[in-house]
Amino acid sequence: MKALILSGGKGTRLRPLTYTGAKQLVPVANKPILWYGIEGIVAAGITDIGIIISPETGEEVKAKTGDGEQFGAKITYILQEQPAGLAHAVKVAQEFLADSPFIMYLGDNLIEGNLSLFLDRFKNQQTDALILLREVANPTAFGVAEVDVNGRVLRLVEKPKVPPSNLALVGIYFFNSVIHDAIANIQPSTRGELEITDAIQCLINQQKKVEACQLEGWWLDTGKKDDLLEANRIILDTTCLTQSVLGEVDQKSQVIGRVQIGAGTKLVNCTIRGPVIIGNDCYLENCFVGPYSSIGNNVQLIDVEMDHSVILQSAKVVGIHQRIVDSVIGQRAQLIVAPQRPKALRFMIGDDSQIELT
Ligand code: TTP
Repeated sequence: MKALILSGGKGTRLRPLTYTGAKQLVPVANKPILWYGIEGIVAAGITDIGIIISPETGEEVKAKTGDGEQFGAKITYILQEQPAGLAHAVKVAQEFLADSPFIMYLGDNLIEGNLSLFLDRFKNQQTDALILLREVANPTAFGVAEVDVNGRVLRLVEKPKVPPSNLALVGIYFFNSVIHDAIANIQPSTRGELEITDAIQCLINQQKKVEACQLEGWWLDTGKKDDLLEANRIILDTTCLTQSVLGEVDQKSQVIGRVQIGAGTKLVNCTIRGPVIIGNDCYLENCFVGPYSSIGNNVQLIDVEMDHSVILQSAKVVGIHQRIVDSVIGQRAQLIVAPQRPKALRFMIGDDSQIELT
């Protein structure tokens, strides 16, 4: 059994962060999203992993993630020249996959719980494809499946106007090698991509065994800002369970509840109320950092109140007295307000940035 993680694509919905970096490397609770997927796959016993990368962000993914040793896996990087669709990515990986069965995992997806249950079902029932489904409130925004009472998939529709069910396709699939023939038989969709839903529909039409498992726990597709914040909230809630302070906390500071503070970080006159994670080598002075905040390495926060936000590494925020909420601040971004009431606002804001003074 092999794994194929898709870490190419354009990431247009997470701009401007994705102008300068891979969407899959954006941190959730200070760890790249992609790494949760790798860890989940390794925990299910699969260690031969191919990762699809794009020409724009591939080098960064490779440099950060390495050859797999840190995960106990062997990683092979596979370049997809164009983001021509999920099924196209499988086509590009055909040499790596050979005739092995494999799990295909979208590198920006996170799910609760472990993959072993689904893997066992895929192996034991000798299906040609096993897809994961999750009930959603807005099925028109997803690929949706129509399923019979035995869990057999009858039909898949991409973003249907009239959904046949409220069961959306989660970005995790199990295939055996027949998927390659199906992909060879499909044409690009109206949006110009080779769609994996079309390839699976092709298997169904050929009477192959395509089954579905319903996911009961949470599923997060971190493609947009609010999804990213929600992923950060859930991951902090489930993984930041104790208090651990490696840095320096002065006597005027208070660290309350589930808070992790990295080495080399210094807190002066701050209140931190968990769950919160603060990386290494940060400096925080006169700050309140409230629940569900993740602060990357080397961040400076002075005279700031915030909660439910993600600050990426080397950002600097100074003198913001209104509370910062539901925010994502990119790497090296600077948000500085003068100590006297500012008379002017001076900006240098990247394309597609969003600033709301509410
Ligand atoms: P999507 O989120 O569907 O696409 P995208 O990354 O281009 O994002 P956006 O819609 O914001 O422009 O992709 C799901 C995952 O699959 C994501 O990790 C990127 C990856 N992917 C590839 O590796 N190759 C591809 O051709 C496509 C379309 C996606």
